[in-house]
Amino acid sequence: MPRRPFVAGNWKMNKTSSEAHQYVTEFVGLVNEITSVDIVLCPPYTSLARLNEDLADENVKLGAQDAFWEDSGAFTSCISAGMLSAEKIPYCIVGHSERRGRFGKLEIPETTVGYFGETDESVNLKLKALARAGITAILCVGETLAEREAGNTDSVIENQLNAALDGLGDDALKSLIIAYEPVWAIGTGKTCDTPEAERVCGFIRQVLADATSPHLAMGCRILYGGSVKPSNAQDLFSQENIDGGLVGGASLIATDFAEIVKAAV
Ligand code: PGA
Repeated sequence: MPRRPFVAGNWKMNKTSSEAHQYVTEFVGLVNEITSVDIVLCPPYTSLARLNEDLADENVKLGAQDAFWEDSGAFTSCISAGMLSAEKIPYCIVGHSERRGRFGKLEIPETTVGYFGETDESVNLKLKALARAGITAILCVGETLAEREAGNTDSVIENQLNAALDGLGDDALKSLIIAYEPVWAIGTGKTCDTPEAERVCGFIRQVLADATSPHLAMGCRILYGGSVKPSNAQDLFSQENIDGGLVGGASLIATDFAEIVKAAV
């Protein structure tokens, strides 16, 4: 089943809204002829409103980097899925490794990543909240270096996926995008080698098929993320089970990110 390529830039905590505005002014000109790829930018919350105006008539869409699971209330600093949908933000990342761990189940070492204690349970609640709000989730899964070295890559990913998907309705499952992001490859310059990235993305598709249906799994877009750059994007994106990328550092430079998007055409 042909799947439409999907490439998202995760800006993390980078760029003021005026820097973001400057970036998209350049970026849209570099990618405006690309019609065969879903192109998404995930800036900090502070830039979403301005970029939504900038991108109103463009082929570049917006995503948030996280959303809380409650609809409203006394949750200082949080943004709800409903607030994002009121701003017409179509996508949201959930369960990024920089948000998982430390106080949560994954016990990612303090020196690696994981600042916010996101757990499999909170990821699941957030996916359900996004589904209620009609926002497409980009669910991140991936193993730490210690988990890989212990030979636990597949079981870690299977557990993350099954916990995340628990109780999700059909519509949420049908639109879900999954990003395989090996923690040890994020922001390190170390890319997972292509055959292994393809193997794990194929494994994710199999777990999804077992949890839902083969048909749904065949239609799901599975991305690779972790030190994607212009020089390795084409090789990664040409794999059977890799439908695009979630790109951190290289998405901060408009020309680099445009090259990565072109590699998915
Ligand atoms: P990176 O980040 O491309 O800088 O490795 C990827 C991500 O964290 O989504």
